Amino acid sequence: IPVDEFDLVIFGGTGDLARRKILPGLFRRYCAGQMPPNARIIGAARSDYDDAGYRDLIRLAVAEFDADSAKDTAKLDGFLAQLSYVTVDARGTQGWDTLATLVRPDVVKAFYFSVGPGLFGDLAERLHLHEIADSASRIVVEKPFGRDLDSAKALNADLAAHFDETQIYRIDHYLGKETVQNLMAVRFGNVLFEPLWNSQYIDHIQITVAETVGVGGRGGYYDKSGAMRDMVQNHLMQLLCLIAMEPPNKFGPDAVRDEKLKVIRALEAVQAHHIVRGQYGPLADEQGYREDVENARSFTESFIAMKLHIANWRWAGTPFYLRTGKRLKAQSSEIAVVFKPAPHSIFDDETDTENNPKRNVLIIKLQPNEGMTLDVTIKEPGQGGMRLINVPLDMTFAEALGEGAQAPDAYERLIMDVIRGNQTLFMRGDEVEAAWGWTDPIIEGWQARSDVPKTYDSGSAGPEDALMLMHRDNRRWMEIKP
Ligand code: BG6
Repeated sequence: IPVDEFDLVIFGGTGDLARRKILPGLFRRYCAGQMPPNARIIGAARSDYDDAGYRDLIRLAVAEFDADSAKDTAKLDGFLAQLSYVTVDARGTQGWDTLATLVRPDVVKAFYFSVGPGLFGDLAERLHLHEIADSASRIVVEKPFGRDLDSAKALNADLAAHFDETQIYRIDHYLGKETVQNLMAVRFGNVLFEPLWNSQYIDHIQITVAETVGVGGRGGYYDKSGAMRDMVQNHLMQLLCLIAMEPPNKFGPDAVRDEKLKVIRALEAVQAHHIVRGQYGPLADEQGYREDVENARSFTESFIAMKLHIANWRWAGTPFYLRTGKRLKAQSSEIAVVFKPAPHSIFDDETDTENNPKRNVLIIKLQPNEGMTLDVTIKEPGQGGMRLINVPLDMTFAEALGEGAQAPDAYERLIMDVIRGNQTLFMRGDEVEAAWGWTDPIIEGWQARSDVPKTYDSGSAGPEDALMLMHRDNRRWMEIKP
């Protein structure tokens, strides 16, 4: 679907995110025929480039981060012709008048703040001062959106001084992932799951976001954040909200975000012994976390596992187990909905034991190999008597949908939603604040107790204690596999 004509200004247009994600993503939308011929992308940053120099920079970036698409040089030339650049001092006066002449008044205007949060207020203020933005303009901001409740409130206030909430698009790129959206389609587009989607039928839910990469290269930022701030407060929290929320009355921005907010507000305070923090150690020729962040005394977690409860009618008694970490055995993000066993077994099957009951498990795989499987119990073929086995009903999207499974990447999708003016997949200010409000006491608890993360081997499933968190409850984590 084509979008309206637009001018998109990317502050931080020469930065890592712009080169790695935003511009290659926009190029793919261009190739898909979704970028109107007169749409303009304006890079804005401190470095000195002219338009030609900036186009060269982005040509290299696309070649580096999406070599396949970059092969179509004619298309790439066409795309680059829609790019221009202006040198802008976010805290000063340089460049703003030029920018004001470049941005057209009569098209959709979007301003992407691909810069540190310390500049959000300055940019917002100058966009108004120089009359570049108006009441229909949109601004896009990235995480980290604050590092605690107070800083998030301050950022919200800085933005609110110049922009209405309906103009602010806070990105959590997990919401742009195809399967994350599919989660809502599965829950609310089928009659099959929702009647069972509660503590009466669901034993527990696991959310895993496992990465094989370490923190190399981003040590400075990461060591001040840790997995809790970097992943749980935002990405895992969003997944939790989508899996646990009540059905919104429509798939629209406020309806969806109201329901997500209710989930966050219903989270119980987490008990200290329901959290396991970990830090990866060195392995063979790979450095450990502390070497990666160049801080020999770092107590920051690169892994976290926790058990949560949502205090409402639907979920009372169903624990949610979350875990995420770096340098784990495989890259794998999935949600496992583990149903309760059948209330009574009519089969005399010795394999169906209390410790290993036959039961349904719905696995929603976010990445890689996006898809879903539903474990169902059937009779083991060919055996005399009634022996039961669990088999997966497999729906790997790439196989089931063929070509149609080629979905735009998270950033492409979200940027196009900004141009369309659809905030459904963006976080509202109150949602971000509520998530920090839940996160802060946990981190403060660690600080007060001088909590020390457990070391785990690179390439493992995390610290032993994380396994124990489940074993104590007679449950098991799903295996981390691609
Ligand atoms: C980012 C985190 O928000 O998400 C990174 O800052 C993390 O630490 C990344 O690696 C994971 O995103 P994805 O899309 O690769 O799962």
